[in-house]
Amino acid sequence: MGRRVLFLGPPGAGKGTQATLLARALGVPHISTGVMLREAVAEGTELGRQAGALMAAGDLVPDEMVVAMVAERLSRSDAACGYLLDGFPRNVEQADALDRSVAGDAIEIVLLLTVAEDELVDRLLKRAVEDGRDDDNEDTIRRRLEVYRSETEPLIDHYPSHGVPIITIDGLGAVEDVFARVVMALAHE
Ligand code: AP5
Repeated sequence: MGRRVLFLGPPGAGKGTQATLLARALGVPHISTGVMLREAVAEGTELGRQAGALMAAGDLVPDEMVVAMVAERLSRSDAACGYLLDGFPRNVEQADALDRSVAGDAIEIVLLLTVAEDELVDRLLKRAVEDGRDDDNEDTIRRRLEVYRSETEPLIDHYPSHGVPIITIDGLGAVEDVFARVVMALAHE
């Protein structure tokens, strides 16, 4: 049976890394709004042109643009039996919009990855050197962390209050050790 899982956590917590591994293990698509938006920027689409400057500043792209992009992605056949969402919903408005656009429970379980802030910043500055992602500079990283606290953290209360369980997973340690915690958390849920 497919699963509908949301990975939540601050920038650098390892959402993309863990979602890639779990999607492979569960056989469901990994849907990352950050990846989709970076592709749109690279391809120079209208969406990419509008999103690029906001992303480079560490601010959120407007809800209606992201919601439409995700709704289209979820309508494809490979998402019919489950999906792993990474980076979306990013605020309560997006969570409500997702619930309205999907029949049944859009999210069955939330996995919250936690990592100390110093380690988050270290990981993203390291990636800046390795990959050169536009928003991995110190000022933008601080802004992304602020936006996470003000916009995204409220989802940590929102989902349980709407009957969706949330499991907190220590995101510190080797990637494979964190993944073992993810698998264990889902097995015991
Ligand atoms: P997005 O791409 O979602 O970025 P983010 O949330 O800031 O997340 P990151 O990709 O930086 O971190 P992650 O938690 O996925 O960790 P990762 O596995 O990559 O969003 C970017 C921007 O797009 C936003 O700022 C916004 O502008 C826009 N956007 C996206 N979604 C939106 C939405 N829904 N609404 C509006 N705007 C939206 O790992 C990070 C690094 O750490 C990597 O180098 C990795 O190799 C390393 N790492 C991973 N795990 C470990 C480990 N266990 N130990 C050591 N290093 C590790």
